[in-house]
Amino acid sequence: MKTLDKPVPPGGTIGIIGGGQLGRMLAQAANALGLQALIYNDQHGAPAFQVTPLQLAAPYDDRATLAGLANVCDVVTFEFENLPADAIAFLAEHVPVRPGPAALATTQDRLTEKSFVAALGLKTAPFFEVSSPEQAHAAFAQLGGEGILKTRRDGYDGKGQVRVISAEDAALGFKALGGKPCILEGFVAFSFEASVVAARGADGSFAAYDPPENVHEHHILRRSTVPGRLTPAQVMEAKAIAKTIADALDYVGVLAVELFVGKDGSLTVNEIAPRVHNTGHWTIEACACSQFENHIRAVVGWPLGSTERHADAVMENVIGEEAHAWESLARSGALHLYGKKDAKPGRKMGHVTRLSPRRSL
Ligand SMILES: Nc1ncnc2c1ncn2[C@@H]1O[C@H](COP(=O)(O)OP(=O)(O)O)[C@@H](O)[C@H]1O
Ligand SMILES: [Mg+2]
Repeated sequence: MKTLDKPVPPGGTIGIIGGGQLGRMLAQAANALGLQALIYNDQHGAPAFQVTPLQLAAPYDDRATLAGLANVCDVVTFEFENLPADAIAFLAEHVPVRPGPAALATTQDRLTEKSFVAALGLKTAPFFEVSSPEQAHAAFAQLGGEGILKTRRDGYDGKGQVRVISAEDAALGFKALGGKPCILEGFVAFSFEASVVAARGADGSFAAYDPPENVHEHHILRRSTVPGRLTPAQVMEAKAIAKTIADALDYVGVLAVELFVGKDGSLTVNEIAPRVHNTGHWTIEACACSQFENHIRAVVGWPLGSTERHADAVMENVIGEEAHAWESLARSGALHLYGKKDAKPGRKMGHVTRLSPRRSL
């Protein structure tokens, strides 16, 4: 078993599981620090394969590939949380995995995640376990109002969710979601959405970015704006929430906490992403050290970089066919394209960040 008593020096190798845009931008950040990035993806042709020669393509639970990954890497991290938990547990027996398997296990299941957040004394939407149509019926009766039924695992970009407005709806929704274990959440009539992206180092050091205000369209992030409408007190509270969660998970790396900002000003935790996050992409241009660089720094045991923001920023996703307008997008701001070939509807093809001089907040 390899250990990480000391930081990984320049020239060391960091394994990144997942070869999408997050893995790609993590690999680029690793390269900028003189580290090598190895991308492990379950399919050929991953966007991240374009930026590093070190690559593995195999199913995520392939033991021989996992053993090979452990062998060549000093530390392993991941770009998405829906990984088979036993594969990560196996990997963690051979090589340090950061953030650790426990953080992943807590956050990849909406029921354990919400229970964990509530136990920390943080606000969540009311939630109920739903494992059968009868339970869906009963949960709706207890909730007593509009809700959202979500599969406990594997959801992203609003996939695996249905709005429900009656007990019958809830039971039907459970069946429509394939009869998978679900939770029923109360619908939160928020004023707007925000998120906080933060880094925690192996030594327990902590640094949070300013929380952007986020707008979703068709359940996909459209835009992150920083500063958003959060008050200075809400900004402080959002960062404190991220610290409470990161400390409780003994977290190493970057994490994101999605928040609902209530009409009463309260902050409700929606979900935790144990990874770099789409609502932190603006940090590449607007901060001294981006979320990607800070994640790499944390997992290799280096000092965290400054999360200080030197500009105001608006980050917009480039979704599906919007990518065809790359020329005008390139004219309008800092354009990132992820190297994806098919501009399928709803697919995140890139993003563009527009900066303006920082206002006082
Ligand atoms: N309980 C809720 N009340 C109101 N809106 C919600 C609730 N849960 C989710 N949403 C809306 O759906 C979006 C996606 O839900 P989320 O739980 O974050 O799943 P995903 O994993 O797809 O990001 C949220 O950003 C929010 O706009
Ligand atoms: Mg979300």
